[in-house]
Amino acid sequence: MLIVGSVSVRAGQPADLVAAGRHLVENVGMCQDCHSPRNPDGSFDRARWLMGSPLGFKPLMEMPWAPAAPGIAGFPGYTDAQAIEFLMTGKRPSGIPVRPPMPEYRLKREEAAAVVAYLRSLSPAATPTPAAPEQAANR
Ligand code: HEC
Repeated sequence: MLIVGSVSVRAGQPADLVAAGRHLVENVGMCQDCHSPRNPDGSFDRARWLMGSPLGFKPLMEMPWAPAAPGIAGFPGYTDAQAIEFLMTGKRPSGIPVRPPMPEYRLKREEAAAVVAYLRSLSPAATPTPAAPEQAANR
């Protein structure tokens, strides 16, 4: 669950919407922790911001788990409506649930719209993140 007390999203003002979305992504959801690749020294690879990354951790016990977080820059593969719905319900358009550690977000509509506006403002990765084959199949 996200608590976004200080962000006010003014509809119809795209620059504000993108800025609010950036705040939600970077400071509240911290999507980059999983979705941004890192340099060998552990810092973020800013040139590939939110372009997808293998996860550097996994659970000790057997459980549903995704080994990599796909690129979300540009929000590829979703229409705006699907992307907003996904962030409001945690459900993919296909109905197949996302696996941990992806949180099932329950954003408010205006928060989801801001996140989508920000992610759409970024260029998608030219090459997809190396991911387990079943991840692509689950879309
Ligand atoms: C703790 C790690 C983690 C965080 C934080 C995280 N994600 Fe994810 N995300 C994942 C993983 C792992 C997957 C792949 C899940 C799968 O393949 O089942 C994923 C998948 C996705 C997908 C693709 C769903 C699809 O259809 O394949 C989107 C979009 C997404 N995340 C958006 C976000 C956004 C936006 C945020 C921040 C608000 C965020 N994620 C934060 C780990 C994370």
